[in-house]
Amino acid sequence: MSTSQSDALVFFGATGDLAFKKIFPALQAMSKRGRLDVPVIGVGRSDWTADQLRARARESLEKQGEVDPIAFEKLSGLLRYVSVDYTETATFQALRKELGAAERPAYYLAIPPQMFETVVEHLEKSGCAKGARVLVEKPFGRDLASARELNRILLKTFDESAIFRIDHFLGKSPVNNLHFFRFANAFLDPIWNHHYIESVQVTLAEDFGVQGRGGFYEETGAIRDVIQNHLFQVLTHLAMEAAGGSDSESIRDAKVKVLEAITPLGAEHVVRGQFVGYRDEKGVAADSKVETYAAMRLEIKNERWQGVPFFLRAGKCLPITCTEIVVRLRRPAAGFQELDLKQNALRLQISPEILFALGMNVLGSNEQKPGQSVEMVACRQQTADEPSAYERVLGDAMQADAALFARQDYAEEAWRIVDPVLKADTPVHEYEQNTWGPTVVDKVIVPPGGWHNP
Ligand code: BG6
Repeated sequence: MSTSQSDALVFFGATGDLAFKKIFPALQAMSKRGRLDVPVIGVGRSDWTADQLRARARESLEKQGEVDPIAFEKLSGLLRYVSVDYTETATFQALRKELGAAERPAYYLAIPPQMFETVVEHLEKSGCAKGARVLVEKPFGRDLASARELNRILLKTFDESAIFRIDHFLGKSPVNNLHFFRFANAFLDPIWNHHYIESVQVTLAEDFGVQGRGGFYEETGAIRDVIQNHLFQVLTHLAMEAAGGSDSESIRDAKVKVLEAITPLGAEHVVRGQFVGYRDEKGVAADSKVETYAAMRLEIKNERWQGVPFFLRAGKCLPITCTEIVVRLRRPAAGFQELDLKQNALRLQISPEILFALGMNVLGSNEQKPGQSVEMVACRQQTADEPSAYERVLGDAMQADAALFARQDYAEEAWRIVDPVLKADTPVHEYEQNTWGPTVVDKVIVPPGGWHNP
């Protein structure tokens, strides 16, 4: 085992929802691939035994139709459980004992962020933090001030190189592939700028609601839940300059530079919406003003992107589930103006399929309409054995590979951009379920050529 590889994985929140939905499947996949060979200790407040945790893991995998007998048995052999009162240092001693000879444990805090400070403090006091690294889930804070405070708390105990801020979109290969695709194909970089690109839009649409997470959603809303993190990651990969090297810090430096060039959003740059029926969800206030939809326009003030507007939108209860980027190219400067050609666009779909589609004008056979617009589509199905986003981020954090994680300055820059709008108390417009959001959007935040609904 290399000296940077974690020699134990401890996940706080073992009895919770995230563990059930995402962590157990990722752990089994890691076990199947031979990437997990260290004690895996679930920590929770419930008075469970290791067998109860194993039963919970099995239930999670059964629910997702994913039990692999051999990999599950191996995982079961690694699973332990420690019951901890998050506010009592003494109970953390039991964790230290369970860690045995482990010297480089990784602590994954899959718990509400309000608990981070107390847990980190007790990890420190009980001697559990020595040599360790910590993994924290997004949203990292709820605004700029709280993200700074959270960083301060974590940095009291852990070095920045031992902090892994998880955004599972970074574990998605098509998101990661964006900047690789741009710089690994010589034909793209020369046109990837304001001379050829007129505007960019990114849509994260989901055809479901808050799925029983009303309480969580009331504290977050669409901007904090998926825009400030997931969509900004897509944005920075699309817009960054070539990194100075392929190491994690060069890549992260290049991404931070994109955010630094974006001015904070004003109220006029954002429309917020809420689907009809959200207020009836469990845990949601009857007069809630939390957005389940947001659309925004921003600009990146640098040489490459001058004058190119970027549009981001995300929403729940929209007609379909799909994450798609549309890069609209400029009209050709000369020739064929009389044909009223359609403007070309490049569509990059991240999910549910990985798709690349290039719009083109070609000569058609119809003499009345000689120019025709077609789309060349290339599509790649994800194979069943490709690592899931959670498998990738957990595995990389355990190997101390930081490229897939948000650095402190990145997280703070991202909050700086959305902060004014989070505080502006802008109106929240109702929209019917199964529609593309509040109709006012098409009057206020309008990409050239209109929104492209995937
Ligand atoms: C999560 C959000 O981070 O990302 C959810 O909390 C959202 O609200 C989800 O549905 C989307 O991610 P994915 O991978 O399912 O597209």
